[in-house]
Amino acid sequence: MTATLIKGTDIREEILEEITQEVAEIKEKHGVVPGLVTILVGENPASISYVTLKIKTAHRVGFHEIQDNQSPDISEEDLLALIDKYNKDDSINGILVQLPLPKHIDEKKVLNAIDPDKDVDGFHPVNVGRLMIGGSEVKFPPCTPYGIQEMIVRAGVETSGAEVVVVGRSNIVGKPIANMMVQKGPGANATVTIVHTRTKDLAGHCKRADILIVAAGVPDLVKPEWIKPGACVIDVGVNRVGEKISEKTGKKIAILKGDVDFDAAKEIAGFITPVPGGVGPMTITMLMHNTLRSLKYKLGLI
Ligand code: GUN
Repeated sequence: MTATLIKGTDIREEILEEITQEVAEIKEKHGVVPGLVTILVGENPASISYVTLKIKTAHRVGFHEIQDNQSPDISEEDLLALIDKYNKDDSINGILVQLPLPKHIDEKKVLNAIDPDKDVDGFHPVNVGRLMIGGSEVKFPPCTPYGIQEMIVRAGVETSGAEVVVVGRSNIVGKPIANMMVQKGPGANATVTIVHTRTKDLAGHCKRADILIVAAGVPDLVKPEWIKPGACVIDVGVNRVGEKISEKTGKKIAILKGDVDFDAAKEIAGFITPVPGGVGPMTITMLMHNTLRSLKYKLGLI
């Protein structure tokens, strides 16, 4: 193995420690702690486990946390009224509606109903616009791309002038991370290319990348020969390719694979993120960061 592993599990611990300290300091000086509500509609097992982990993490860093679980048949009107209640609740700084929502509810309408100043997911069009403008306009970068940028910076990888190639153009990862890396400022100033399913020479573009960010949702899409020697490879893919029995718990668990052929790529890349334990843990970490940030805006600390 030649590449340095960028472990999300380690960086998560570093950042959560920093957040815990800052929360304690704010509590001491201002007598308040950040408040996060997660709204879960229905019983999707993956969503339940994500929300449970979000709430557990919020508790760990000293937040005031509410897990608001709603029946799968809640009407759109009632869900909008619930969001309005939390928009007006002074003890809440961050509102997260877990996606996906049941089919009878218009996801866009729901996300647009969240107060942009409590939209710690960064999905509201106002926050998407703020991110596009960049600089001091940015309030809540979306959590997964924010986590990716943080990993690159904390690994000490130079971004200024770097060729960044992003594979995938989703609203949650591809488009925002490309936008963030091209901005003026630290951890950015890169030359960015987005490639996608209609790109003619995927391999050719990837081979030019000093930093290759892959969020395509296709297991082992990126072959070792697509990687420039010494490049930083960030694998956002979490693909379930089978099941196995956990040695720890004896229960069935998913076998996960990234979008990059890790075993071969690690011999060529300079830096690489594993799957699992790479980008995955960063999303919830940056959600905590954004919720703290929301309180800091409110207190005039930033
Ligand atoms: N469902 C899967 N990932 C996410 C996320 O980051 N935020 C929300 N709100 N829902 C999700």
